[in-house]
Amino acid sequence: MSERTRVDSAHISPSAHYTGYVWYRHRLSEPAFATSMGRSVHALLRPLTWGARRLFGLDIEQLLLQRHLTIDACLSAAIEQGGVRQVVEIACGLSPRGRRFTQRYAQLRYLEADLPPMAARKRLLLHGAGWLGGQHQVRGVDILAAQGPLSLAELLAGLDHNEPVLVITEGLVNYFELPVIEAFWARLAELLGQFPTATYLTELYPDLREHPRYRQLRWGVGLIGRLTRGNYPLHYRDDRQIAEGFERCGFPSVRVLDPAQRVASLGLLAMRGPGLVRVVEARLGG
Ligand SMILES: C[S@@+](CC[C@H](N)C(=O)[O-])C[C@H]1O[C@@H](n2cnc3c(N)ncnc32)[C@H](O)[C@@H]1O
Repeated sequence: MSERTRVDSAHISPSAHYTGYVWYRHRLSEPAFATSMGRSVHALLRPLTWGARRLFGLDIEQLLLQRHLTIDACLSAAIEQGGVRQVVEIACGLSPRGRRFTQRYAQLRYLEADLPPMAARKRLLLHGAGWLGGQHQVRGVDILAAQGPLSLAELLAGLDHNEPVLVITEGLVNYFELPVIEAFWARLAELLGQFPTATYLTELYPDLREHPRYRQLRWGVGLIGRLTRGNYPLHYRDDRQIAEGFERCGFPSVRVLDPAQRVASLGLLAMRGPGLVRVVEARLGG
């Protein structure tokens, strides 16, 4: 299964160049994280993102920043108030979070992971800049591999099981059908149960059918699907269903955050209408 699914979700990887370039553009990373592919895709999509902003008040980059900075804020709180000292970021792509947080917190161990080709690229990037070391490492993982060297179990095996742990996925969940991603969450919850306390942070785009921009949202996710040669299904109808879904997967404590409610504290622009993305903080133990 691992070999087949790895091929199946490899088409998602180019999207990491686009988001990587967005983080760079908004001064969240150094130039090493910006690739020529990211720059080209960004330029290619500019007329569309401009049109969405002007016609519908839908600012794609602000939406991406909402999720990214909300996850950052939850991570900072977990480190500063929850004593977290080991973080695993799965589907890291070209995200600069590992770099930013290891710079900020000297005691933090940060493990980034992605499909092997993207992991190799990220390792090279960090190594080339002299940022790789005991504190900051990169590994290959396939969230669909139930066993074997790329499985989640192998990724988490090297961590300190007597210490709290925090796992992040960003920009991953909606590329998979709900039963597939729920099976991953269930495997994750089971493995996180081996730590004294564990937190999982992720973002997802719910199927908000009553949202005034629902038609445009459907069009946008259809476009993401076409560009990445896959599907981009929306998951759950509302915050209650999100919480219930995570509880079913084995996370007893779930907080669903709407980043649109926090734009002022995140230093972002307010967008018209209710929020489109949610950040989920799911916890075990403690
Ligand atoms: C949209 S990018 C997000 C990258 C980064 N998290 C960000 O927000 O900029 C999606 C990432 O998911 C990774 N990915 C796709 N399928 C995966 C899988 N089966 N296991 C682990 N990562 C996967 C891709 O390689 C890519 O880096």
